[in-house]
Amino acid sequence: MKHFLSLADVSTDQIWHLLKLARELKAEWLRGGNRPLLAGKSLGMLFQKPSLRTRASFEMGMVQLGGHAMYLSPSEVGVGSRESVADVARVLSRYVDGIMARVFEHRHVEELAHHSRVPVINGLSDHSHPCQGLTDLFTIWEKKETLSGLRLAYVGDGNNVATALAFGCAKVGMDFVCAAPAGSQLPDGTVGRAREFASVSGSKIELTDDSYAAARGAHILYTDVWTSMGQEEETGVRLRVFPPYQLNARLMAAARPDVLVMHCLPAHRGQEITDEVADGPHSIVFDQAENRLHAQKAILATLLGQ
Ligand code: CP
Ligand code: NVA
Repeated sequence: MKHFLSLADVSTDQIWHLLKLARELKAEWLRGGNRPLLAGKSLGMLFQKPSLRTRASFEMGMVQLGGHAMYLSPSEVGVGSRESVADVARVLSRYVDGIMARVFEHRHVEELAHHSRVPVINGLSDHSHPCQGLTDLFTIWEKKETLSGLRLAYVGDGNNVATALAFGCAKVGMDFVCAAPAGSQLPDGTVGRAREFASVSGSKIELTDDSYAAARGAHILYTDVWTSMGQEEETGVRLRVFPPYQLNARLMAAARPDVLVMHCLPAHRGQEITDEVADGPHSIVFDQAENRLHAQKAILATLLGQ
């Protein structure tokens, strides 16, 4: 594993290696100790969009592993505007041991990886959010002690987070269903690739426009914002189309009685999820947020630790 750009490129064995390492690192952290696996190493963090979880968890993850992280804001670097994506990669990779980048266009993170001397991690692109997807598998595994055979129902926009989940579930043998309105389903390319992976692991990838049908029998109900960063001009239209896909108490009643509720955050409370559900007894959204730290430390230790 040279870079971490999409869960589509990470094998099932590599996913399990990362999950087990994340579990070890979390256990050490809970005992109050951190191994300096990245002593003297540094991470450059390039952001084209805002962030709380990704920035804070990568920075603290590097600190806990004995290394250092450098935040580079959108206005400072101007990836692709002040300077070409290729030149940013060529220059930054001479200073640091790894690059984490949050970009608008997925091809930019691929281009960074192509021209970088050091590993590149996708911290969210329009196509995928693999750090979130890996963290979510880790959180589900932690809660359920298994992954294969579970059913995850994602309701809402077939976006970057849904893509990462479709790939992740398919790789580890979880059934994945995406309930979304017409025009906002997962892209055909994502569905095709996820189904290839699912045919190997023995799981199913389903699409529907009926959130209640999706929720039936689900072990996990997952949602994300209706309008992702970069789509702000579509907010009005989306607010009219998406309300049937809200994760609320009625939808939860259609799932298993022990269903877990997940959201990558930030949440637009009252839109894709109600307060009652986000703050209710089935919600694990803040454990998810915490686990970004542990899952990403496993990614960092694996990519930068050699
Ligand atoms: N879930 C997530 O990536 O959050 P941020 O946008 O705050 O980093
Ligand atoms: N789909 C959201 C995820 C934010 C973490 C977005 O891209 O804005």
